[in-house]
Amino acid sequence: MSEETWTAVDAYLGSLFLPSDAPLEEALRASAEAGLPPINVSPLQGKLLFLLAKAQQATRILEIGTLGGYSTIWLARAVPPGGQLISLELNPTHAAVARRNVARAGLAEVVEIRLGPAQESLETLAREGQAPFDFIFIDADKPGYSDYFALSLKLARRGTMIVADNVVRDGEVADPRSGDPNVQAVRLYNALIAADPRVSATVLQTVGSKGYDGLALALVTADRV
Ligand code: SAH
Ligand code: DHB
Ligand code: MG
Repeated sequence: MSEETWTAVDAYLGSLFLPSDAPLEEALRASAEAGLPPINVSPLQGKLLFLLAKAQQATRILEIGTLGGYSTIWLARAVPPGGQLISLELNPTHAAVARRNVARAGLAEVVEIRLGPAQESLETLAREGQAPFDFIFIDADKPGYSDYFALSLKLARRGTMIVADNVVRDGEVADPRSGDPNVQAVRLYNALIAADPRVSATVLQTVGSKGYDGLALALVTADRV
């Protein structure tokens, strides 16, 4: 089974489940034109994020790692009128591109993009005493994942879903001796969510146009976090 097959199946499934969508396609085009790396979630994964947030009946969503706002648009569309999505991004160029893409998608009122290191932005959010988020998507620098999980719990409630991208890394995650710091970081993340009694978690392996990777799902089950 090859990447070519996965991409063909992604195209087939996309033709069924993803009608053409000008704001999303334009977001990818503008991101590429601005030189952003093509590391957004795939269209079918974006729809999965949308459906998970919908199933959560999320009105408040937190995203860590905005890039050009592709996953941001998918998630923000799950939010009903009056809801909010806060997305954290370190790179000012990425944030600027994302703000334009989000505005073009008609979601400027829903989405707030906060510039700076996610760790600091998360600490600020906690200090602000923000209402808990219903859905949290972790997708920034992999070495930060474990800290982002700990800080996310402070911004969560029982029932919050915490999803993390890129936790399989072409299967390298199964190699305890991997020399790749990103692999070691997601191994640490997976071990952390597996052992934390405040969440019930699993990992879904994924293949498709973005290669072979995986999504970690952790549902907060503790009454107090
Ligand atoms: N969620 C996006 C992809 C995010 S790519 C999508 O699927 O469409 C990861 C992003 O995290 C990049 O834009 C990168 O600049 C940002 N990032 C890296 N380190 C960061 C940090 N310490 N704090 C916040 N964002 C960071
Ligand atoms: C990388 C980061 C991502 O968030 C992703 O989805 C794919 C690749 C990376 O840093 O290489
Ligand atoms: Mg990712």
